[in-house]
Amino acid sequence: MRFVASNCLREGMCLARPLYRNLDVMLSSGVTLTRQFIEGIQRCGFTGVYIEDELSEGIEVNSMISDSLRRSATKSLRSVLSMAAGGNDKAKVPDLSTQVENLVDELFSNRDVMVNMLDLSSYDDYTCTHSLNVAILSIVLGMGMGFSRADKLGIGAGALLHDIGKVFVDKRILNKNGALTEDEFFTIKKHPMDGFNYISKRYRIPRGYCNTIMDHHEKYDGTGYPCGKMGTDISLYGRICAVADVYDALSNKRPYRDAMPACECVEYIMGGAGTLFDPEVVEVFTRRIAPYPVGTTVLLSNGWKALVVENYINFSLRPKVRVYEQNGERVMPFEISLKDDLHYLSVTITGIG
Ligand SMILES: [Fe+2]
Repeated sequence: MRFVASNCLREGMCLARPLYRNLDVMLSSGVTLTRQFIEGIQRCGFTGVYIEDELSEGIEVNSMISDSLRRSATKSLRSVLSMAAGGNDKAKVPDLSTQVENLVDELFSNRDVMVNMLDLSSYDDYTCTHSLNVAILSIVLGMGMGFSRADKLGIGAGALLHDIGKVFVDKRILNKNGALTEDEFFTIKKHPMDGFNYISKRYRIPRGYCNTIMDHHEKYDGTGYPCGKMGTDISLYGRICAVADVYDALSNKRPYRDAMPACECVEYIMGGAGTLFDPEVVEVFTRRIAPYPVGTTVLLSNGWKALVVENYINFSLRPKVRVYEQNGERVMPFEISLKDDLHYLSVTITGIG
């Protein structure tokens, strides 16, 4: 399978992965795209879809987590958010811990897989999808930093709930397209503290892990909010969640801007090491996140065009690729490993197709 951006879809292409909308299957895998389907995909704001064709035969994209877990975790998270928004203090607190345990277990069983962010973009419920993605990324970064199981569960829960304080912010401010006034920004800046207070009172999550919520907008150089903490005064969980939060926000289409390709998001995070983000967390991030996810079309410095077939942990810029075009001429596809093939050590990826 390969990834095709929404604006490059053509009638007759065959969908390789199901698309979900509000937790229901919108289009099943195997469906042939029609003009109507393509318009629907574009209208719903999907950045792109996976398609199956001859060129991409045999290229498999491993899911970070199963579709069923994604759906059940999203459902639980949604009920937590709506309960917080409804202000019902007497209702039974929905159980999230089982979902977080399942997340940690599934990610652990996939521990050699690099994060393939395209895998995470076929869902349209932004708040829940974003929170779940931030939890997945935070757990993966925790794994890369050698966290214990308890710490992985803790950061997973904190990251899943990192933006819960936003339910207390006026929707008109949250969804505003233009620049925020000073007062509006002041209101937004309260969401980490409000979220922390709400969760630490109602959920049995140790205080240290709740700091994920409190600190996720703090910046390493002290310019963040709500407290303007600096460096390691920011909890490690908060420093991890900050990277995951920004990365996922940039990778998704928002009403005011397009989604950024994975390689540009990685570059942004790397550029922020030491100022916006903890350099140690960024270092782990660059080893575990694929800037050129499997199924992406890439342009090589020697004028060739290829599809990414496999990524290697610690060598994220040197994947295995399937070359199918040389200097504008279609050729019989063949595979090369930019990491291992000595003939191609000087060849680099210069862009995405
Ligand atoms: Fe936030």
